[in-house]
Amino acid sequence: MNGYSTQWLDKGFPWVYRDELQGGDAVRDAGDVVRIVGQDGQGRGVGLWSDTGKVAVRRFRTDEGPLDAALIAARMDAARARRPLPDQTTAWRWVHGENDGLPGIRVDVWGPEVAIALDAPGLERLLPLVVDHVVATLRPTAVWRVDRLAHDVDLDARAGVLYGDPADEAVEVEELGLRYGVHPGRSQDVGLYCDMRDVRAWLRPHLAGRRVLNLFAHTGAFSVVAAAAGAAQVVTVDLSPGYLARAEDNFRRNGLDPAAHEFLSDDSLAVLDRMRRKGEQFDLVVADPPSFSHGPRGDWSVERDFARLVTACCRVLADNGWLLAASNHGGLSPKDFRGMVQQGSIKAGIPLRLLHEGSTPVDFPASLAVPTSRYLKCWVLSA
Ligand SMILES: C[S@@+](CC[C@H](N)C(=O)[O-])C[C@H]1O[C@@H](n2cnc3c(N)ncnc32)[C@H](O)[C@@H]1O
Repeated sequence: MNGYSTQWLDKGFPWVYRDELQGGDAVRDAGDVVRIVGQDGQGRGVGLWSDTGKVAVRRFRTDEGPLDAALIAARMDAARARRPLPDQTTAWRWVHGENDGLPGIRVDVWGPEVAIALDAPGLERLLPLVVDHVVATLRPTAVWRVDRLAHDVDLDARAGVLYGDPADEAVEVEELGLRYGVHPGRSQDVGLYCDMRDVRAWLRPHLAGRRVLNLFAHTGAFSVVAAAAGAAQVVTVDLSPGYLARAEDNFRRNGLDPAAHEFLSDDSLAVLDRMRRKGEQFDLVVADPPSFSHGPRGDWSVERDFARLVTACCRVLADNGWLLAASNHGGLSPKDFRGMVQQGSIKAGIPLRLLHEGSTPVDFPASLAVPTSRYLKCWVLSA
């Protein structure tokens, strides 16, 4: 590798980028075990070769030992031991990729089922070892492979059941005692974002009697928390009628009557516009949009549109109302996020104050060596 890459590896970075390779041009196959050598000729450990994407090698060890079942079991056991998770919580991330010493491998537990995602085909070499350890440790009813679309390889095409007998219907999981239906085998579409668990827990004691507007609501996890905590009004907005149907189902799973609340299949900015014109006000607006999306009113991009969204949210906030502003877009820096929140609030003429800075929970650790691991920006602000 070149000197730049060597320096990063010495700081604990787990990847060697393809354009930073020097030498090492022997023909290799995806999944080959390679010894990593720095610019000074010294060994920098052992990794797996990937023949696609920007990352050529993912480093699994800094010494020269084997990539075997004992290594995988030790890393997975260490990741599991960092619990405790909160009580009454059966959906959690077991292995968080490079942050758990297993670069490119994610393992999520969804109650009785487990889902494994790989970032590159070269990691398949380790998959049987991961599955064996999952099965031996948790005895799940099913293990899925749910790779995300990565690089130029359609990894979704390789998704499927690796072990056991999955449920035909949604699986029910608990988060802090509330129940949600999830589909562990649907890679991008499971139905619950566990990385927001601590934020939901933080909000919970503040919601009784409040009017809550949950935008970009997905399957309504924030809405369920609000309604279960005794919010006076919960309006749940998502472009997708399918997600709203799942949100209503999540209400029923918790003994909450969806008919007592509103579910709007619409564009969030259009709804905000309508609410403002009608003079509606909310004590909490949740704005956790996707990085990008295509809608009937055009494309949404968090980097371009977040300030405009903050302005529109501010305009429906009651006196002392709260705005939860969040983005999980790794490409959006905390500085730019802060800038857009500030810009949006100035434009609305409402000087927001930061009440709480939310973070990912204990099962989503962030390696200091990998800046993009700290992807979540989540602020609760008061008008
Ligand atoms: C990242 S998820 C939000 C996660 C959600 N806050 C939660 O905690 O589960 C993004 C959601 O925004 C929805 N969406 C995308 N563009 C939208 C738009 N313009 N208006 C309303 N919903 C939109 C998608 O259908 C998706 O469910």
